Amino acid sequence: MLIQKKLTGAMANYIIRRFKTKDYDIVRLLFRQGMIEHLPTTCIYILKLPRVHFLLMVSLISLLLASKSYLLSFMCMTAILAAGWQLMKGEFNHYVEQCYMEDLMDIDKSYMEKKKSCFWVVEFNGRVVGMVGAQLAEDSDDVMVLKRLSVAKDQRFKGIARSLSTTVIEFAKQQGCKSVTLETSMVQHGAQKLYESMGFTKTDVCTFPTLLGRFASFSVFTYVYNIETP
Ligand SMILES: CC(C)(COP(=O)(O)OP(=O)(O)OC[C@H]1O[C@@H](n2cnc3c(N)ncnc32)[C@H](O)[C@@H]1OP(=O)(O)O)[C@@H](O)C(=O)NCCC(=O)NCCS
Repeated sequence: MLIQKKLTGAMANYIIRRFKTKDYDIVRLLFRQGMIEHLPTTCIYILKLPRVHFLLMVSLISLLLASKSYLLSFMCMTAILAAGWQLMKGEFNHYVEQCYMEDLMDIDKSYMEKKKSCFWVVEFNGRVVGMVGAQLAEDSDDVMVLKRLSVAKDQRFKGIARSLSTTVIEFAKQQGCKSVTLETSMVQHGAQKLYESMGFTKTDVCTFPTLLGRFASFSVFTYVYNIETP
């Protein structure tokens, strides 16, 4: 089984290795940072929705009619937008905390000690700058799930995520899996580009299962990579 992979070419100083317990804090931090960075894009997406324009317009007109003051109405609208930002931030934090309570609570137990599962990190000059996990799908013995892919912001566009995803595909092949599957969201444009360029196909679109997710029609995409059998 692959223990450590030294990359070549432009990535010669990067090493992909299996997760060690000492990586726990940095892995959880990289995951949080990788998720929270999508907050502004998500807010912009929501602000562009016609139903949100309508609600904001109705609020503004009601405030103007009730207060007869442009200044007060403007201040109330600013407060409404700030509350919306806080609401979205809460939703993101809730999601991260939920993941912290699931597989990221005990990475050794969830990945390293589990059958047909593994977690890798990328090390650059002794610093962990990327990560990915692979777990067997709950209801299957031959479908691998790629999870928690994240790369530090200052190390992007160097091919790290591509190498990590390839590591998961190679691992899935070794484990006799027929496919690799994953979920990503509509605002994770970089991830979508990466998976599509690697041969993953979008097979399903569903709405994020929260009240806010349904209100905003926030989509979650499923991608599948089919492993060719000789
Ligand atoms: C998505 C992410 C993992 C990509 O990491 P990365 O190491 O920069 O990706 P790579 O350098 O391996 O890029 C692979 C391909 O994807 C493309 N790509 C990556 N990020 C992109 C972006 N933001 N916009 C457009 N294309 C992007 C690259 O151009 C590259 O294509 P190319 O080889 O044809 O040039 C990284 O941006 C990240 O950690 N994001 C936050 C967390 C996240 O969204 N994770 C995905 C979970 S599903």
